[in-house]
Amino acid sequence: MSQHTAQKRTTAPDIRARKGGMPIVSLTSYHAHTAAIADRHVDFLLVGDSLGMVMHGFESTLPVPLDLMIMHGRAVMRGAKKALVVVDMPFGSYEESPAQAFRNAARVVKETECGAIKLEGGKRMAETIRFLTERGIPVMAHVGLTPQSINILGSFKAQGRKVEEWAAIEEDARVVTEAGAFSVVLEAVAEPLAAKITKQIDIPTIGIGASASCDGQILVMEDMLGLSPRVPRFVKEFGKVGEAIERAIAMYAEDVKSRAFPGSDNTYSVKE
Ligand code: KIV
Repeated sequence: MSQHTAQKRTTAPDIRARKGGMPIVSLTSYHAHTAAIADRHVDFLLVGDSLGMVMHGFESTLPVPLDLMIMHGRAVMRGAKKALVVVDMPFGSYEESPAQAFRNAARVVKETECGAIKLEGGKRMAETIRFLTERGIPVMAHVGLTPQSINILGSFKAQGRKVEEWAAIEEDARVVTEAGAFSVVLEAVAEPLAAKITKQIDIPTIGIGASASCDGQILVMEDMLGLSPRVPRFVKEFGKVGEAIERAIAMYAEDVKSRAFPGSDNTYSVKE
């Protein structure tokens, strides 16, 4: 076997081992250059199927095809050298059977060289999670609000607001843990319930609009950068990138119109 001297990339077992330790930092990422920047600060990057809404302007994540996930997964893998890269399985690519899930997840792993996949669903996906992990594919589970079920749920709303709803969500988290998931996203799960689940299961919980006591947090990168036109109420914006882009483009337009535009010295060399 050849020896690799490059920096070691974070693995799914590394993330699994972080249960109860230093909070896990993660973001979504869809393209190479921002992945390279985020790579210096995060433990894992998720190529989320949210890219359908964020990058491609779909109304939901449902239209996203597997090939698009693979294309963005490859871009993020080219940009990030240290973080674990997790690629989301899009709607329709895994729910039918464990065999369908393995066939498509294996394509994702082979064609992107990512270290894990994520799929939505608790108890109903347990058999599939076991099937994939037993065959070498690490799985991040995703319970609570599962956006691929939008047509059943009716709207993107917090889950577990009524105590009567808690038992089913707790069971989902417990069952995906027993099935072998290395971590689980808790999306829009009521704060006390997310905190309770984090104590109950022995894999890391990754919160998004859930609880500060989760083992880690994830946000959609464009949302926290201030680039998305509409963001969920829980999102804290750490930048105003949308405004910066608008300002820069307006300045560019002014330069073009006033002919204050730099020419080339014919070498087309790159700025150092
Ligand atoms: O698709 C996505 O970006 C996600 C995160 C919001 C967890 O699933």
